[in-house]
Amino acid sequence: LDLRAEIDRLRKERNAVILAHYYQRPEIQDLADFVGDSLELSRKAAATDADVIAFCGVKFMADTAKILSPDKIVVLPDLDAGCSLEDSCPPDKFKAFREAHPDHIALTYINCSTEVKALSDVIVTSSSAETILAQIPESQKIIFGPDRHLGGYLNRKFGRDMLLWPGVCIVHEAFSETELLKLKAQHPDAPIAAHPECPPHIVDHADYVGSTSGILQYAKTMPGDTLIVATEPHIIHQMELAMPEKTFIGAPGADGNCNCNICPYMALNTMEKLYLALRDLQPRIEMDEDLRLAAKKSLDRMLDMAS
Ligand code: MLT
Repeated sequence: LDLRAEIDRLRKERNAVILAHYYQRPEIQDLADFVGDSLELSRKAAATDADVIAFCGVKFMADTAKILSPDKIVVLPDLDAGCSLEDSCPPDKFKAFREAHPDHIALTYINCSTEVKALSDVIVTSSSAETILAQIPESQKIIFGPDRHLGGYLNRKFGRDMLLWPGVCIVHEAFSETELLKLKAQHPDAPIAAHPECPPHIVDHADYVGSTSGILQYAKTMPGDTLIVATEPHIIHQMELAMPEKTFIGAPGADGNCNCNICPYMALNTMEKLYLALRDLQPRIEMDEDLRLAAKKSLDRMLDMAS
């Protein structure tokens, strides 16, 4: 079976659009109609006129597409493609935390369940968080969840005192400061770009801190021709496509290479599973309508405030 040809055939037959996150395998990025970060993918999902969205990313991203495009069929190649941040924030515990802080609003990272979105006031992504936080008056008390590193980074950068939910991303948590400094010693002129989901001991060494789309932009304008990249290494595929003359090195984990920082959830999506998802229109994202409408409010606020 020529999987690529079959996927192309089914994409036409189903009037489907294939959306892929930057953290997907290169072969999936290469066949997608659109590759982006979660803010860009949310916008695409809201605007497409396709009948089917085949979402190559993790489940909360496919859920977001369904929240924004309820009349479309949304399929995710592997329903087990979860997220450690989402798992760290069970809705009942988040609800109790909110109730314990009634004078706080909840500014919530998009890496969470639909239920937690429904319990939140404004959603942010790593590329919209700074723009949105800058619009919230300093006197307003805020709960930020589920990523304590992104929240801590925003607190430091904006001089805020947001209460942080204690979640972390297992991928960004795995970078090793010692190995990063060894790599930097080998490439003293190469800047380091880090995602704000990284812990402070990594972010503190970065010349640029930002989302995947931000890091991609930085790679275009950075000084020199070599960049050390501290985020999920599949983003490097887009960098190499856009800038074949430059060198991109994935920041290392404790074993000295960047393979331990591959997201095991993102990696569950394969060409075979994408083919089956388009063929069978399964696994499909389904959602209770009241829950969807409640979650949509906080997502719509993000889309309004992020512009
Ligand atoms: C997202 O927003 O998609 C993730 O945080 C990764 C990124 O920064 O793009």
